[in-house]
Amino acid sequence: MMEIDFVRSRFIKHFDGKTGNVYASPGRINLIGEHTDYNGGFVFPGAVDKGVMAEMRANGTEDTVMAYAIDLKDRVDFKLSDPAGPRASWARYIYGIALEMKKLGVPVKGFNIAFAGDVPLGAGMSSSAAMESCFACGLNDIFGDNKVSQWDMVLAGQATEHNYCGVNCGIMDQFASVFGKAGCLMRLDCRSREFEYFPFKPDGYRLVLLDSVVKHQLAGSPYNDRRNSCENVVKHIQAKHPEGKFETLRDCTWEQLDEVRAEVGEEDYKRARFVLGEKDRVLAVCDALNEGDYEKVGELMYQTHEGLSKDYEVSCEELDFLNDIAKECGVTGSRIMGGGFGGCTINLVRNDLYRQFIATAKQKFNEKYGHEPKVYDVVIGDGSRKLC
Ligand code: GLA
Repeated sequence: MMEIDFVRSRFIKHFDGKTGNVYASPGRINLIGEHTDYNGGFVFPGAVDKGVMAEMRANGTEDTVMAYAIDLKDRVDFKLSDPAGPRASWARYIYGIALEMKKLGVPVKGFNIAFAGDVPLGAGMSSSAAMESCFACGLNDIFGDNKVSQWDMVLAGQATEHNYCGVNCGIMDQFASVFGKAGCLMRLDCRSREFEYFPFKPDGYRLVLLDSVVKHQLAGSPYNDRRNSCENVVKHIQAKHPEGKFETLRDCTWEQLDEVRAEVGEEDYKRARFVLGEKDRVLAVCDALNEGDYEKVGELMYQTHEGLSKDYEVSCEELDFLNDIAKECGVTGSRIMGGGFGGCTINLVRNDLYRQFIATAKQKFNEKYGHEPKVYDVVIGDGSRKLC
């Protein structure tokens, strides 16, 4: 995590010299359960030790926000009452979350904000959810007496993506960022919203991310198309079974999927096939973890990669290449992490293989693509919080 003084010195310099309160929220990893959240399935994320830190203070105006993005050295001022909102994509997260918190009854007025992040952008580690939950946490504290619940802040972050940023995401990222706990992964049932903390200290293994540095951008990407395909399949299954209630693919069986195969077409069929398989894999991973069977966990991770690459088609050449290297090196488990279309692989590696794997991946990737992948050792950290 960054130093508070770093953010504070910029906040003082760019505004009126006064200090505010400082909040932090993390990015996330996800062990397994990809593209299952908006399908009512299970996910298995954890917060990381990297994220976003913001200093915020009410500025006494009715609705003028003065915002400074420290990393970009970019200042944008806007009014919450302006229906169009700011154009800078980073400022839209502030505008969006402020309006969503207002909808929840928080009397948000004008404020100053300066923020910075150390969660890599575009790596599929949810820098955007880190921003949303950090700003929500601050607004809730400054204007709302902390009356908004953690779950409502999760949903406000998700609504910000839907309503102001063009990504019809699920709830995994905002959930992980708000509820994260050091040392624990969380298994979340995205339909009932029940979850449990899972202490994660795999004896003899570690988690490492390899960032392909292929830019991951979900806005305007085929992410929303994937969601539409899943919803289309559900619609067809519902039409065939008017007696049942089918809200998401979570409610659908393999037999029902096969029944609509011809009418939905091969592409949507493959998307749904991945989701049904992934739903089962999350539960299988939980069982394997309970038994300490990390080799089984790894095998399921490889299956997820295969499905994301061939059926869901959200991989890219560089990520498939990283996955192949992992396999060749004997790495226990490896797969694309997050939405896909670039970003990272997450790897479950035996401690004794770690150094050789990283060295081989760097060398081979560099030979092929002219640069090394970035390496992030996973440290599972805490969720959104006020620092001072
Ligand atoms: C992105 C979305 C999440 C989830 C993942 C894929 O990170 O924001 O809601 O759908 O992709 O698992």
